[in-house]
Amino acid sequence: MALAALQELSHHYHSGSRSIQVLNGINLEVKQGDFVAIMGRSGSGKSTLLHILGGLLQPRIGHYLFKGMDVFSMSTNEIAIFRGKHIGFVFQMFHLLPEMNVLENVKLPFLYNNTDPNEAESLAREAVELTGISHRLLHKPSELSGGEMQRVAIARALAPGPELILADEPTGNLDSITGEEIISLFELLNTTGKTVVMVTHDQRIAQRAHIIKVLTDGRLQ
Ligand SMILES: Nc1ncnc2c1ncn2[C@@H]1O[C@H](COP(=O)(O)OP(=O)(O)OP(=O)(O)O)[C@@H](O)[C@H]1O
Ligand SMILES: [Mg+2]
Repeated sequence: MALAALQELSHHYHSGSRSIQVLNGINLEVKQGDFVAIMGRSGSGKSTLLHILGGLLQPRIGHYLFKGMDVFSMSTNEIAIFRGKHIGFVFQMFHLLPEMNVLENVKLPFLYNNTDPNEAESLAREAVELTGISHRLLHKPSELSGGEMQRVAIARALAPGPELILADEPTGNLDSITGEEIISLFELLNTTGKTVVMVTHDQRIAQRAHIIKVLTDGRLQ
């Protein structure tokens, strides 16, 4: 069974009186252990697609099955639980909380899911160790380099143990050498069993994935 399967998925946005068709009959099967890169020109709908996979958008046109669960039929409450349990997000701009140190940022997901504080602490430290940022545990984001901030963001995504990591241009704000280190970290996570779907503009970064899909005119090829 696929980990995540989109079937005949379509999505449009409303902008004033206009309707913008972004996705138009998407079919995608992501299996456990896959490392998928999604490419496509700016505005082609890559972030939209990732948001749908992560349960941030429920267009309800077509189907989205995650481990056989019908994601589009989930209530607001159910979808929040789905995200917390199964999905880890990594963004281009890191999205760390500036007032919190590294460890506190990585522990953030546990604020919302009633994890025992000791367990949260140990899972967060494990994730920080895995991403190679444990020497910066008490630093604030402003004291970190871009690559270090992205490691923290990856640790935060990993800490609760999601099966699916969704990354939107994770190297887009990094120089090429740092980007290389971050993509190597994704490779490592993938070899330890995480399923990764990553959006990128960068052909060289995309080549590191095992499957490359291109979004054109609302369709994946
Ligand atoms: N909330 C919204 N309301 C209206 N239109 C939107 C909204 N979000 C995105 N769009 C439009 O949908 C299209 C796809 O946007 P999306 O952000 O998914 O593209 P993208 O492929 O991620 O682009 P980029 O590479 O620039 O990040 C764009 O034309 C965008 O302007
Ligand atoms: Mg985008």
